[in-house]
Amino acid sequence: MKLFRPAKSMKQTFPALIHQVLICLVLLWSPCLSQAAPRHVYLTWQHDTGTTITVNYQTLEEAETSEVHFDTESRNGKIGDYKFHTTGTRHKIEGLPDGRTIHWVELTQLKPGKTYYFVAGDSKNGFTTERKLQTIPDGTQKLRFVDGGDMGTGPALQPLMRQAALQEPNFAVVGGDIAYAGDVLANFGLWDRWLDGWEQCMVTPKGFTIPMVLAIGNHEVRGGAGHSPTNAVFYFRYFAQVHDRSFYSRKFGENFVIYLLDSGHITPHGGEQAAWLDAELETDRNFPYHFAVYHVPLYPAYRPFEGGGSVAGRNAWLPIFDKHHLTTGFEHHDHVFTRTKLLRNNQIDPQGTLYLGDGCWGQGARKVSDVLRWYEVKAASIQHFWLVDVSRSRVEYRAINKEGKTFDVYPPDAKGAAEAEKVYLSLPPPPPSNPKSPATSEDKDG
Ligand SMILES: [Fe+2]
Ligand SMILES: [Fe+2]
Repeated sequence: MKLFRPAKSMKQTFPALIHQVLICLVLLWSPCLSQAAPRHVYLTWQHDTGTTITVNYQTLEEAETSEVHFDTESRNGKIGDYKFHTTGTRHKIEGLPDGRTIHWVELTQLKPGKTYYFVAGDSKNGFTTERKLQTIPDGTQKLRFVDGGDMGTGPALQPLMRQAALQEPNFAVVGGDIAYAGDVLANFGLWDRWLDGWEQCMVTPKGFTIPMVLAIGNHEVRGGAGHSPTNAVFYFRYFAQVHDRSFYSRKFGENFVIYLLDSGHITPHGGEQAAWLDAELETDRNFPYHFAVYHVPLYPAYRPFEGGGSVAGRNAWLPIFDKHHLTTGFEHHDHVFTRTKLLRNNQIDPQGTLYLGDGCWGQGARKVSDVLRWYEVKAASIQHFWLVDVSRSRVEYRAINKEGKTFDVYPPDAKGAAEAEKVYLSLPPPPPSNPKSPATSEDKDG
C-alpha cells in the first residue's frame, strides 16, 4: 500500500498529509486493538479473607476465558512461568453502552498472610501487568484498615486515596456513595474514573494492591432507593462480593468481624436484615471486636437527628448493637467529620459503642453547626478517612486529611493523640462548599 504520493504543492498536500498521517496512526494502532489488555483490575472478597480473594477485571473486547496466573514469587508477567492458574466466570451488564465484559476469578486455597503475584486476562486480549496482593493473616496479628465513604470522582479523590495507601492498610472499606453514578448505565464513565483512581492510587508503598470491601449507599441505587438488586446493577455486577444481597459480613483473622449493612437502600433496616445481624453477632461473640459499616448515620453530624434514615437505623439496629456490645459503627452519607461519645441505649455510657463518620472521602465537606450535638465529641468540615489499627488488646482510630495530617486520635492515650489535637485546632475552616442551611432529612445529594 502506497501511503505517500509526490507532493504537487503545499496548498494541495497539507490536508492530504494530515489524512495520511492519521491513516498511519490507525495502522500503527490497529495491532494493539487485538491486544486489548484488561481495562480495570481490582480485588474483592466473596469468601474467607485468609484463603481466598477474587480478582475482578474488565475487558472491552469479547473474551473466551477469564484467567488469573499467580505465584508466590514474581514472574514479571511471563505467563508460562507462574506456578498457579485459575479460571473464573464472566458476564455483561445488559444495556451498558460499550458492551464490556466483567470477569470474576476467585483464587482459593491460598495461604493466610502470604504474598501472591498475579496477572489477569487471556491470551487473545492480553494480560494485566503483574500486581501483588497479600492475604489476611489467620491469627491474632495486628491488622490495619481504612474506612471512608462518599467518594465520587472530584479533585480530592486521588489525593485522599494516595494518603490512605501510604498507611499500608491490609484492606479498605467504602461505606457507600462510591462513584456517584446513581446506577444510570450511561454514567459508566464515572465508574471508570473511580476505578482508574483506585488502580493507580490504592497501591501501598510496598506495592500491594489494596482489596476493597464495599457497602451500599443511596448513590449506588437508581432513584436513591429500590427494593431489588436490579436497581443497583453496577454495585452488584461490577464487584464480586455477595451476589444479589446488600448486607454481609467479613472476618479478618481472629480479632474482628465487619458487618456491611444496608441502611435502607435495597433492603430495609429491620426485618430480615436485623434478624440476620442479631444472629451473626451471636455466632461471632468470641471475636473481641465487632464493627458495623453502613451508609446513613444513626448519629448524624450534618442532617437532623430526627431524619428518617437515622431514626429507622436507631429503631432497627441500636437494640442489636447494644445487646452485643458493638465496638464501633462507621457512618457515612453526611460528608463531614465526626466522632461521638460512647453511646448505649441512646445515652452516653462509658461501656457503649463508638460512632465515627460521616463519609467525606472525596466529596466536598459540608458546613457543620458551630454547636456540638449531645452525642458528639467532635464534628468538623474536613475531608478525611479513618485509619483503624486492630490488635488483640486494643483498637486505635486515626482521622487523616487530604494532606496526610492526622487530626484526631482515639483513644486519647494512643500515640500521637496530643499532636493530633494541635493539628485539629490549627486547621483552617474550609470555604463553604454547601450553603444549604439548615440541613434537611430530604437532602437527596448525600
Ligand atoms: Fe454522599
Ligand atoms: Fe449518601
